[in-house]
Amino acid sequence: MIKVMFVCLGNICRSPMAEYIFRKLVSERGGDFVIASSATSSEEAGNRVYPPAAAMLAQHGIHCQDKRAVRFTRSDYDAYDVIVCMERRNVSSLERMLGGDPDGKICRLLDFTDAPRDIADPWYTRDFKTAYAEIAEGCQALYETLTKQN
Ligand code: 4NP
Repeated sequence: MIKVMFVCLGNICRSPMAEYIFRKLVSERGGDFVIASSATSSEEAGNRVYPPAAAMLAQHGIHCQDKRAVRFTRSDYDAYDVIVCMERRNVSSLERMLGGDPDGKICRLLDFTDAPRDIADPWYTRDFKTAYAEIAEGCQALYETLTKQN
C-alpha cells in the first residue's frame, strides 16, 4: 500500500483536485493506495472545495462534496509515504514546518512529468481549466511512477 498526500496552500483548489483525480485513476486502473490532501495554511480549514474547482471535477464526472479543507500536520509526515506539493512554495512551507525533509518524501507534482514546473494557483489566475489539465497530467505521471516502482 502506498499512502499519498497532496498539498497546496489552501486545500480548496489544487490539492483536492489532485486527490480526486488520483482517486479516479486508481479506481479505473487499480492499485492499493491511501489518498488524501491538505493545506500548508489554516486559512480555509473546514471549507468545501472552491466551487469553480468542484465544477471542473464535476465536468469530468468526479464528485467531491464530502471534502473539507484540513491543514497538514507533523504526524502526516510520518503517516504518508509520498507528499506531493503543487508548487515550490508549498515545499518550502512544509520544510519550514518540519525542519527539513529527513525521509526525502516531499516532492512536486509536475516533477514527475517531462516538463517540471509549478502548478499556478487558480485562486489567483482564475484559470481552473489549465489547473485541471496540469494536475491531471501530473497525476497520470505520478501514478505511472508509483505503480512501476511497487
Ligand atoms: P489552493 O488555492 O492553494 O489551490 O487551495 C488557494 C485557496 C485559498 C487561498 C489561496 C490559495 N487563500 O488565500 O485563501
